[in-house]
Amino acid sequence: MAVASPISSFVFVIFSFFLIPATLSIASESPETFIVHVSRSDKPTIFTTHHHWFSSIIASLPPSHHPSKLLYTYHRSIHGFSASLTAAQATELRRISGVLSVIPDRVRFIHTTRTPHFLGLADSFGLWPNSNYADDVIIGVLDTGIWPERPCFADTGISPVPSTWKGICETGPDFPESSCNRKIIGARAYHRGYEAGLGKPMEEIKSPRDIEGHGTHTASTAAGSVVANASFYQYAKGEARGMAIKARIAAYKICWRSGCYDSDILAAMDQAITDGVHVISLSVGATGHAPEYDHDSIAIGAFRAAEHGVLVSCSAGNSGPDPYTVVNIAPWILTVGASTIDREFPADVILGDGRIFGGVSLYSGDPLGETKLPLVNAEDCGSKYCYSGKLNSSKIAGKIVLCDRGGNGRVAKGSVVKLAGGAGMILANLADSGEELIADSHLVPASMVGQTAGDKIRDYIGSDSSPTATIAFQGTVVGTSPSAPRVAAFSSRGPNYRTAEILKPDVIAPGVNILAGWTGYTGPTDLDIDTRRVNFNIISGTSMSCPHVSGLAALLRKANPKWTPAAIKSALMTTAYNVDNTGKSITDLATGEGSTPFVHGAGHVEPNKALDPGLVYDMGVGDYVAFLCAIGYDSKRIAVFVGDPAMVDCGALSLGSPGNLNYPSFSVVFDTNNRVVKYKRVVKNVGSLVDVVYEVQVSAPPPAVEVSVSPSKLAFSRENQTLSYEITFSSVELERVGGATKSAFGSIEWTDGVHLVRSPIAVEWREDSMVTM
Ligand SMILES: *[C@@H]1O[C@H](CO)[C@@H](O)[C@H](O)[C@H]1NC(C)=O
Ligand SMILES: *[C@@H]1O[C@H](CO)[C@@H](O)[C@H](O)[C@H]1NC(C)=O
Ligand SMILES: *[C@@H]1O[C@H](CO)[C@@H](O)[C@H](O)[C@H]1NC(C)=O
Repeated sequence: MAVASPISSFVFVIFSFFLIPATLSIASESPETFIVHVSRSDKPTIFTTHHHWFSSIIASLPPSHHPSKLLYTYHRSIHGFSASLTAAQATELRRISGVLSVIPDRVRFIHTTRTPHFLGLADSFGLWPNSNYADDVIIGVLDTGIWPERPCFADTGISPVPSTWKGICETGPDFPESSCNRKIIGARAYHRGYEAGLGKPMEEIKSPRDIEGHGTHTASTAAGSVVANASFYQYAKGEARGMAIKARIAAYKICWRSGCYDSDILAAMDQAITDGVHVISLSVGATGHAPEYDHDSIAIGAFRAAEHGVLVSCSAGNSGPDPYTVVNIAPWILTVGASTIDREFPADVILGDGRIFGGVSLYSGDPLGETKLPLVNAEDCGSKYCYSGKLNSSKIAGKIVLCDRGGNGRVAKGSVVKLAGGAGMILANLADSGEELIADSHLVPASMVGQTAGDKIRDYIGSDSSPTATIAFQGTVVGTSPSAPRVAAFSSRGPNYRTAEILKPDVIAPGVNILAGWTGYTGPTDLDIDTRRVNFNIISGTSMSCPHVSGLAALLRKANPKWTPAAIKSALMTTAYNVDNTGKSITDLATGEGSTPFVHGAGHVEPNKALDPGLVYDMGVGDYVAFLCAIGYDSKRIAVFVGDPAMVDCGALSLGSPGNLNYPSFSVVFDTNNRVVKYKRVVKNVGSLVDVVYEVQVSAPPPAVEVSVSPSKLAFSRENQTLSYEITFSSVELERVGGATKSAFGSIEWTDGVHLVRSPIAVEWREDSMVTM
């Protein structure tokens, strides 16, 4: 992953040292880690355990001058092992009977409190009191570890560790037994894959301690305890709370300085399932397009989790606004995009000619005065992106420097300006990020402005003979201007790269300027020169939206203990909203226009409504296997998920199109041969009334598409009854195929007068049939 692309650079701003160093490239003859999926039923009886069998398989491989090494044996998340092998040994391994697939290990990357209030959560009504704050629900957070001494992990007022918990608190350097309590009930560290990938002994401390901050942030967002008077310096002051203040945290450290390896992720998922977690929160993902499901360890691990009733909630990725960028797209994963809340940190840029442009900042040092300082464009001083070592000090000393967003990290630009003697910085968006404003804790007085303002300030610098400016920091402002939520430009988008018939992402949730706990090891910017240490930090990313939804899932699980992970997901999706706090459709910050289901999925989560969704679209492992059959996987490929090809009979599973999977949303592809698409769905009545009639409304028909639903009334008469319906989409404007308009959006709603069960519809017209790869 290079830093050169301005679009992708955002992802690693906060987490910039997660970039792969060049040292990770692997010489062809040196050993590499492979993840090996093995058929469960093929174990010869002479081996007492699978571990013996796997060790003997490895011992039987042709010798190499590197000793081949078994890294992990997997039992739950997959059936198989990971080992350090040469390419020749891997080839040999593929020939052994019972071996289903041999996949090279891959590195993944990590992708915070007014948010409870913004989500409508309250102590007096709705999901919080109805779930007792997810009292004994356990959330497994797979991340960079945890900094346990933070106030958000205090366990006062929390009942004893649930008897269902089977995990441990793995002690290690700087991680004594006392690191765990009734809040952090377990912690483990996984680094064998990482160390093998590095090819040399790792220098980091091998314990669950978080030296990065990301894991502490995500864990406290999902399940942090109540902390009075929390803030980041003077910003975002107030009571901080995780989503599920009584839920328990099990921290699995899978991410290290240069990334998170599939082999370690699988080992942690395997363990988390065995340990008895109820929800897995994973703010980590592939870069680039989503991998094939059977090459995607997160998808494979999540399948097994679903089989054990564990809900897996993942970040959608920070690679927006390009289409096809959403990752973690398996239909059994809850995929979460990022949006803003109604809290801003304004920092006005005031120009010498009196004009004022609104920006944002979390700068906390000495402010600039009212006196305006000389203003320069970084492009005229050596580097428009303000790259390290590229700014001419004599041109910027004592001045405010306008730097363009992209290329390198946002806070890194500020530190470059500071080190070169600049007095301040204006960070201006380019077209990629539009009007998306991310507040950062810059080391110089700095404000980030949108593209429109940036262009005007640049023009001013170019046309005025002695341009000047200052920045006025306004602290924390809560309100409806600008509107909220708005979808972050960085939030990864659909369509679904692998299976166009499944809409992704699923939902959006708060992911911009989120306050949550932080490590004591590094400063809030993660920059070496940042010597500040904070209890709380404010950062942004789909990494921050995922744990919000993980926490909500924990609450829903407690409130409805019999619901499957798919039912919880359905409840969150069909009750999500699409209208912001000014009554308009939710804005996409990349375009300034209304966002579409490819951007926001079913919409923004609304937890109190998810508590009582009326109907749910339920699914189980059998449905997911049928889905894999429908996308053309053979039994050997499906065995990677289910453990044994003998367990798969695609002939008996007649889903037809993958679009018939009982998903709570609709994604339709028309092409020249295919102008009518029919999907089947089954809904289950989970409302309090047994006798109830739901009627459908095509509330928002997509333009140029006729939508009909049959039957249009569903009369329920028994508890937990399921009823099915068929929905038909007909393209009425054939010329759209190959024309300019390639997509359209709408929704249907089932209602009994009390509940509104809404499903979004995304329609695409494609030149030819490239429906499923
Ligand atoms: C929180 O801060 C306010 C004002 O700064 C102060 O009056 C109050 O005592 C503090 N509360 C706690 C629990 O520290
Ligand atoms: C830096 O700017 C000064 C003053 O404008 C100029 O004389 C000098 O050549 C520049 N240095 C470089 C390396 O461009
Ligand atoms: C309906 O489902 C709930 C929760 O799954 C269960 O407790 C109850 O026994 C079911 N009722 C019937 C009649 O199956």
